[in-house]
Amino acid sequence: NDPLRLGIAGLGTVGVGVVKIVRRHAAMIEARTGRQVAISAVSARSRDKDRGVEIGHYDWEDDPVAMAKRDDVDVFVELMGGSDGPAKAAVEAAIAAGKHVVTANKALLAHHGQDLALAAEKAGVMLRFEAAVAGGIPVIKALTEGLAANEITRVMGVMNGTCNYILTRMYDADLPYETVFDEADKLGYLEADPQLDVGGIDAGHKLALLASIAFGTQVNFDGVELEGIEHISIRDIEQAADMGYRIKLLGVAQMTGRGLEQRMSPCLVPATSPLGQLEGGTNMVVIEGDSVGQIVLRGAGAGEGPTASAVMGDVSDIARGIAIPTFGTPAHRLAPAKPARATVPAPYYLRL
Ligand code: NDP
Ligand code: HSE
Repeated sequence: NDPLRLGIAGLGTVGVGVVKIVRRHAAMIEARTGRQVAISAVSARSRDKDRGVEIGHYDWEDDPVAMAKRDDVDVFVELMGGSDGPAKAAVEAAIAAGKHVVTANKALLAHHGQDLALAAEKAGVMLRFEAAVAGGIPVIKALTEGLAANEITRVMGVMNGTCNYILTRMYDADLPYETVFDEADKLGYLEADPQLDVGGIDAGHKLALLASIAFGTQVNFDGVELEGIEHISIRDIEQAADMGYRIKLLGVAQMTGRGLEQRMSPCLVPATSPLGQLEGGTNMVVIEGDSVGQIVLRGAGAGEGPTASAVMGDVSDIARGIAIPTFGTPAHRLAPAKPARATVPAPYYLRL
């Protein structure tokens, strides 16, 4: 078999993690997938920055769109971020040029997922985004593959590592929001625009993506009722603790007779419940299906290694020739979402 050749656009936290995995596990990936995976070219804004990993023997491209069209690239790996601008232009160019695309970009998919998925289908290429939701947890694979024959009734969970880190650490260390925010930044959890994290927007993007896969509907980020954590004070956290609760940014998506409910908001959860005990940086996703019952997935939701792990899982599927529609259901068969006002999460969920 010819090698599967990657072009990686973005060499930040996630891009560097992907380069490291390819370098460390090339032989193992080839043994498992039956195909060698190699990097042809890389791209970022600054050519001179020390990335902490050897990239000198890969071709350098200043322009991600040019990278997306290169003849020696089979899979365009988009790790720049941003819902529009270069990321969108480069992904569109890659699909138009007949390249598979793997991305970690939830903002891009939440805003343009339907159009991009349709374009990918038309071009006969894969567009995959496991890393975009819950970092290292293979929740998209769980929904699209293992649970493919279930009617999904509800998807919920903690999907933003930064917010979970901030809220957990404020409680554990009795530290103010600003100090903990800086710590999260050092750990590489934060989006380039941190407001996406603390405003609940990033978690809302993820919930909208999961809801699309779970319910076979077009991504409807505008239908997510959103509330962030910026206004949560150490006093709120202490008062919740006095009553035996923790505060978590919790998302719930469910299909009801009235339509699709999607809500991402800070919630009180019992301190002793698994959700209440969820440590900072960690995500937990709960899926309920008619045959399987309840599944709980828990793990690192952000950071270099876990996110790169998910990117390379998608690359490995492509190396194996596994073809799965972007949102599980072919994009032309996804129904328009009918949004309904979300009910406030009841204690039933919060015991999780
Ligand atoms: P970083 O900010 O660490 O890295 C972004 C990279 O993209 C940098 O290397 C930057 O170049 C490059 N870049 C930005 N704009 C351009 C451009 N116009 N042309 C070429 N290169 C560009 O981001 P992350 O690695 O943290 O995140 C990447 C993506 O992964 C985002 O979509 C993010 O939402 C997503 N993600 C991140 C997770 C995490 O834990 N960090 C987890 C899950 C998803 P330079 O270095 O030269 O500035
Ligand atoms: N900023 C995101 C988070 C990165 O904290 O969860 C992972 O998507």
